[in-house]
Amino acid sequence: MSKSNTEHEQPIDWWTILSDLEFLTDPYPTLKRLQKRGTLHFDPETNIFFVLGHDGFSRIVKAPQMGRDTRKWKGGWNSPEYRDRDPIGYQLYSGSQPQMINCDGDDHARMRGVYAPAFRAQMMSDLAPMIKAESARLIEQLPLGKTVNFIEAYAAPLPLRVLGNLFDIPPSMDSAISKWSSALIRLADIMMSPEQKLEALTAQNELKAYLSEQIALRRKNPGDSLMDMAIRALDDGTLSEEETLTNLVSMFIAGHETTVTLIGNGMFLLLKNSDQMNALRQDNSSMRSAVEEFLRFEPGGNMILRIALEDYELEGTIIPAGAMVIGMIGAVNRDPNKFDNPDQFDMNRSPNPQYTFGGGAHICIGAPLARMEAHIAFSALLEKFSTIELAGTPQWRLDRRNARGMSNLPVRLEI
Ligand code: HEM
Repeated sequence: MSKSNTEHEQPIDWWTILSDLEFLTDPYPTLKRLQKRGTLHFDPETNIFFVLGHDGFSRIVKAPQMGRDTRKWKGGWNSPEYRDRDPIGYQLYSGSQPQMINCDGDDHARMRGVYAPAFRAQMMSDLAPMIKAESARLIEQLPLGKTVNFIEAYAAPLPLRVLGNLFDIPPSMDSAISKWSSALIRLADIMMSPEQKLEALTAQNELKAYLSEQIALRRKNPGDSLMDMAIRALDDGTLSEEETLTNLVSMFIAGHETTVTLIGNGMFLLLKNSDQMNALRQDNSSMRSAVEEFLRFEPGGNMILRIALEDYELEGTIIPAGAMVIGMIGAVNRDPNKFDNPDQFDMNRSPNPQYTFGGGAHICIGAPLARMEAHIAFSALLEKFSTIELAGTPQWRLDRRNARGMSNLPVRLEI
């Protein structure tokens, strides 16, 4: 076992830490302290292993002995014990099965194969004009010389509309999709309150009902959106009805809130490092590495899961089959054994082996889209505005453990 659980040190109460408001506001000092204590921690309360080191995470994220199917978590969300203890939670987690992120092996490959063609390089460059147009439309509406919440006015609506266009969903549905996705993103939190579970279950049922209606309508007259792609896979037997729905739900959630955090957190970092923002405005060629550094330094996704399919040895500890393993990405991305000056934001950092999109078979399928969206979003802003400055105190969302992002980022803009 890592140094973390040696006899002379106090045991770590992981769930208290992860729920602490100070931690949710700024997790890095605590993660650093825990990382110094050990890069692999075990929480006996929940039977969960936490990985805080880059080397360890590189191993588990790619190891064939480590899966992503949460149904294999011993005593976890799909177990009879859990069903008896928490019927609402059981219904919620069962309702998100089966989907690509929760399957391994052939089932995973089959589901991922349905969407993979949509994220290839050529498809991405075909999407660029649409993303530029959406970004320009939002920029036109940003007020000059006044305080505006950057999250509400730009970071949130841009990915929502991009997804809407990809799935051919009209703008009139944006506020409903946004409400559903902010309730359902908490599925990635590992631990939710009873109220949050109920809210997420309601959102899941409403979103599935909306999607079922859409599938029935579009089956008669298929188009070429990502939704129609999924419908074709349903029609040719590649996906079952349940898989079609759960994967569509997952696309909306995985594709929306995460990209909001990338754009919001990226802007926060540029505001805090105005010399780098000015340099980027002068010379856009660092935009690619700047986006990688946004992802590394303030990862919207903080926890990446694996379930041990077999006993697996990591750093001298046996992780038993059926245990959950969580990579704490805020620590992994700032591991001093991997990154020089890890607590320094450097938009030209190279190499930058950040793990915000995960790795191995489950590496984020939407990463090329998220990267391109961020590239376009920031290029357009910096081209248009000569001044972008902080106009108040930013507020981190404290109602989630994962999907670390802001609720309010007040900025003032000048052309
Ligand atoms: C900054 C934005 C994003 C972040 C930080 C992010 C992060 C992640 C992470 C951490 C995973 C799990 C990887 C693993 O377990 O190793 C994942 C998987 C996934 N993401 Fe993303 N994501 C983002 C954007 C998107 C977008 C735009 C879409 C789609 C439109 C998307 C769709 C998915 C899907 C479907 C999976 C499951 C892939 C699989 O299991 O094979 N994501 N993402």
